[in-house]
Amino acid sequence: MQRLLIVSNRLPVTIQEKKSELHIEPSVGGLATGLRSWYKSSPSIWIGWAGIGRKKIKREKDIMARLLAENCHPVPLSQPDVEAHYYGMCNRTIWPLFHYFPLYAEYSEDFWRAYERVNTAFANVVAGIAKPNDIIWIHDYHLMLLPKLLREKLPKAKVGFFLHIPFPSFEIFRLLPWRQQILDGLLGADLVGFHTYDYTGHFLDSAHRLLGYEVAMGQVTAADRLVKADAFPMGINYDQFSNVDQDPQVQAERKRFRRKLGDCRVILSVDRLDYTKGITQRLEAFSLFLDRNPKFKRRVILVLLVVPSRTRVEHYIQLKKQVDGLVGEINGKHSTIGWMPVWYLYRSLPFHPLAALYSLADVALVTPLRDGMNLVAKEYTATKVDGKGILILSETAGAAQELGEAIIINPNNQEEIAEALAKALEMPEKEQIERNRVMQKRLHRYDVTRWANEFTDRLLATKKIQHEMVEKALTPEMQGKLARDFQKSNKALLLLDYDGTLVPFSPKPAEAVPGVRLLGLLEKLTNIHRTQVVIISGRDKGTLEGWFGNLNLGLVAEHGVWIKEKGKGWETIETLTSDWKKEVRSILESWVDRTPGSFIEEKEFSLVWHYRKTNPRLGELRARELINNLSNTIASLNLQLLEGNKVVEVKNAGINKGRAALRWISREKWDFILALGDDWTDEDTFKALPTTAWSIKVRFGTSAARFSLSSPSKATSLLRKLVRGR
Ligand code: ADP
Ligand code: G6P
Repeated sequence: MQRLLIVSNRLPVTIQEKKSELHIEPSVGGLATGLRSWYKSSPSIWIGWAGIGRKKIKREKDIMARLLAENCHPVPLSQPDVEAHYYGMCNRTIWPLFHYFPLYAEYSEDFWRAYERVNTAFANVVAGIAKPNDIIWIHDYHLMLLPKLLREKLPKAKVGFFLHIPFPSFEIFRLLPWRQQILDGLLGADLVGFHTYDYTGHFLDSAHRLLGYEVAMGQVTAADRLVKADAFPMGINYDQFSNVDQDPQVQAERKRFRRKLGDCRVILSVDRLDYTKGITQRLEAFSLFLDRNPKFKRRVILVLLVVPSRTRVEHYIQLKKQVDGLVGEINGKHSTIGWMPVWYLYRSLPFHPLAALYSLADVALVTPLRDGMNLVAKEYTATKVDGKGILILSETAGAAQELGEAIIINPNNQEEIAEALAKALEMPEKEQIERNRVMQKRLHRYDVTRWANEFTDRLLATKKIQHEMVEKALTPEMQGKLARDFQKSNKALLLLDYDGTLVPFSPKPAEAVPGVRLLGLLEKLTNIHRTQVVIISGRDKGTLEGWFGNLNLGLVAEHGVWIKEKGKGWETIETLTSDWKKEVRSILESWVDRTPGSFIEEKEFSLVWHYRKTNPRLGELRARELINNLSNTIASLNLQLLEGNKVVEVKNAGINKGRAALRWISREKWDFILALGDDWTDEDTFKALPTTAWSIKVRFGTSAARFSLSSPSKATSLLRKLVRGR
């Protein structure tokens, strides 16, 4: 069976020193709690920091043995590195920045160097344990350089990365001085996963805008590798939480809590003590709710369960004081003899009492200012076996995208939270049940096992695509064979696309002019005896004539509308009309208005909407919308839609590059045919070729071509080999 190596900063258990004795305790936080139950059910090893310095852990042989017995491999880290990596770069820089608290973010070279050192230490440990068939799954913001470091050590490894916190918008991410290194680090993975589509989009946007990589359909073409990015909303161990009714320990705890709470209705708040969780705003909103709704006084209790977290970071220390102060204030203001509105617990609870509180609570008040996912919201909902109970959830938690039936609030709007509380406490049971059943179904279907399986399955599928790409890559040996075949041939046909094949794309099409070197190369090719060169392009005939009119070659313009044989004039394959243009142009114009940076190109028998210069996500979205919108119009006007590289083109039906290419292919008995192309429009050429032809896609991706090359410069150097060989 395939092994899984889970790599995260924190192991699922943490060693804590209490009164100079070391104890093993379960780790807190969504990553550890979410993955813990699942990893035990699969053949996996967990690699991470054990929570104490390397000197101590080496001394404690029995602790080491216990960790190893749980399949946990500690990464030894020095105390100064932990200070600057975990307490510094991770929790004073990345955490606040990625949660949209840029003013809390500290930028320090010392932190950064420790971040590099710790990531390298992890890389050494993982590389020492990994076997060739293992899946390596790296988690979270502490280890964003690790995918690249591992790729350098283990080029063939299957490496996935999952970010448990938000990936912020480009405008926030760009503030990070080491933004480029972080992106490069992540792109060492084969698959990068996020909780939501928004975070995925932000990441792709940054990869495109900061590194200039091509990004399309959740795929980054980074240098010579393909990396996938996608959303995998993390699930919970649904069965564990939904079975609490049958668990005697949970029932006993529930009775114990109920005795203490009397017959008050219970509002529950559960988080790590973190400024991103909106705890102080929540307390203030609760106080406002009591002011506005005196009838609930003595009838409700807010159980505020807070787990200590990152207690040595200044903002967390301050927050603790604020929460202590606020709880005192609210209790001082609203309490009556025998009733205290806030019950404050500052500790971690084991599963049974925590589940008892979930199952007992009438309302869960989950109002983070920003949260990657928030598992508490999911755990609470799963525990509501009878369907009764209401979740109030912040719109800025990743979980809100799946739990739309909750009462969704803006965590900064205290009026709205106070109103939501009143609404929740008065909601008819029927409505509560209806809302919960829908969410429960979803949570049950997409639980933590499904989440992990989908991630690992997608990772393996990405690996397969990469493998196929490597197999298709035209190796130097194959290039030698191609050149020899060309030399031996008596009649050779070269069918060459232009943009993206012989030259790279430019932001403006008019700028992609052929240089002297390229023109010289084409001229030499056309001078080779018994060789026919044809440029098959989507460009208009005027442009092609201007650039290549002096050369002795064939030309195809507008994807096959116009054809020019060597030494002859331009002609069309069939009689075409362009009366449809007015109607289509007005649609395209409205897309230009709505999509900054896009524009229309008009050719004699086609109209093209270009979106290369637009924000990539917006461009892809608008392109899909445009295609949907045009589909009815084109059917009635006998037109066709071509989707090229960042273009959508409308033209008469039945015209394509393949049909134009056939004119040359079928004319002679060629004993050598080479076709080079880079996008969907060239697929028609590839499909029109005999099986013996050399068909090459100049870019990675699925194609009917037999081979691939990674860039236009590789394509032109292949053509140079042909020139040299003759
Ligand atoms: P984060 O990962 O930011 O801490 P999540 O809501 O995703 O936030 O995950 C928190 C996890 O910690 C949940 O699985 C929850 O059950 C657990 N948890 C929260 N508070 C406590 C507590 N007081 N005692 C024990 N577990 C807790
Ligand atoms: C969040 C992070 C986790 C982290 C957890 C607890 O869930 O995404 O990576 O482990 O908080 O924080 P801590 O700093 O104690 O590891």
